[in-house]
Amino acid sequence: MARLGGERFRESYFTTFWLPRSAKPAHAVEEAVLALWRLAGVRCAGAEWWIGRAYTTRLPIEFHFDHDVKAGSRHPLFSSVFFFNSVRGGHLAVTDARPGREATRLETVKPRRNRYAIFPGDLLHGVLDAHGRTPGRPLPGPRGRLRVTLVVNFWNRRPTDVPTWAESGRYRDLNRTR
Ligand SMILES: [Fe+2]
Repeated sequence: MARLGGERFRESYFTTFWLPRSAKPAHAVEEAVLALWRLAGVRCAGAEWWIGRAYTTRLPIEFHFDHDVKAGSRHPLFSSVFFFNSVRGGHLAVTDARPGREATRLETVKPRRNRYAIFPGDLLHGVLDAHGRTPGRPLPGPRGRLRVTLVVNFWNRRPTDVPTWAESGRYRDLNRTR
């Protein structure tokens, strides 16, 4: 992750890549995506992945449904989050709300190194802030550790306008040879 430096830090949640089924991994992160895919045991057309980087005092995302941004009603089959590290707060929070239906339950997953969480791709979810609350405005005080995750969404059809890593031209340092 250090190789990414500050590249697209603010847009990290919106910098996503497509890895089709049976594609060869281009670098260690895609190898990790494939390993998680095997662990998840999901049969599908491909995986959309991104590296979520954020301070829990200043979260860039609100509660949301994962969906194809160009074909709004399409959701992934499953959404999943791999945690690289422990942070204060920053729980993944998943509700049982589906589009058009109110939430009646909320379950949270605390970020811990190497923890992996997977849930149906049409559920309302989000990230809680450093105080364990629904994120609002930036919190005062020290920003703490960076929360780093590898997010993998499994799709039965490629989402619109999501490039493969090679097509994107982004995060080139991921396969830099030392
Ligand atoms: Fe999401």
